Amino acid sequence: MTATILDGKTIANQIRQEIKTEVSDFVAAASVVPCLAAILVGDDPASQVYVRNKEIACEKAGIKSELHRLPTETSTAELLGLLHALNSNDSIHGILVQLPLPMHIDERKILDAILAAKDVDAFSPENVGLMSQGRPRFLPCTPHGVMQLLHRCGIETASKEVVVVGRSDIVGKPLVSMLLQRSGPCGSSNANATVTCAHSNTRDLSSVTTRAEVLIVAIGKPNFVTAEMVKPAAVVIDVGINRLGNELVGDVDFQSVSQVASAITPVPGGIGPLTIAMLLRNTLEAAKQKMASCR
Ligand code: GUN
Repeated sequence: MTATILDGKTIANQIRQEIKTEVSDFVAAASVVPCLAAILVGDDPASQVYVRNKEIACEKAGIKSELHRLPTETSTAELLGLLHALNSNDSIHGILVQLPLPMHIDERKILDAILAAKDVDAFSPENVGLMSQGRPRFLPCTPHGVMQLLHRCGIETASKEVVVVGRSDIVGKPLVSMLLQRSGPCGSSNANATVTCAHSNTRDLSSVTTRAEVLIVAIGKPNFVTAEMVKPAAVVIDVGINRLGNELVGDVDFQSVSQVASAITPVPGGIGPLTIAMLLRNTLEAAKQKMASCR
């Protein structure tokens, strides 16, 4: 079998076009332009690229963005000061602190300081709690991107065996939560799965991954999942982005797994572009919610 390639880039472009139209309708009705404030501390090359891509995407969608670049030596207190100013600035609708932060900064304290109504990453305890109870304020961008891709490619998850490999707060845990809901963010057949979460301490990982009709991998280890770990005809979603020399590779060994799977996301061009599209969606949503709360 040679797998169908699930083209995340094309789907993300469709979604971005939809959002652009919605932004334009919102601006016409509310006379307010949604605005995202992004904070980048230090000079991590990958983070610089991500933040730049987010800025470009905002501009194309008609969303304002402002980037706050801070030096590596910035203290937790200084960063908290900036966040308090952004929290109380009514023209800012969404706030994003690019991770990872330098080691000396207290990441938990920083993320907790972002006003939940502006937390477009959906990392705050309040937003995580709302999502896990099935009444989300915002959905976290990468897991929501995975759900959108499955939905728009016609891949149902209801009553299927779905295995998530990875238990991070950003991807693995929220994905498990979203897949467990009775109805998904994009329609009723897009969740309601039997979900297993495997991780670095899972015994006999292959025996778990080979059960999966849909296998989602987010562990940050290049080419980790190989063909023997995949059930024939499974759908494989690779959330990893790893730099190997000059090349970007996923957590899934594309070469071998694409011979076994029925469908697979490439890296790059799979889930990555959807993450940015979902950030735009959350920023627009934050502006809409702010307007509704002012009425
Ligand atoms: N670094 C890697 N992924 C993310 C993300 O989704 N949001 C933020 N803020 N930083 C990241």
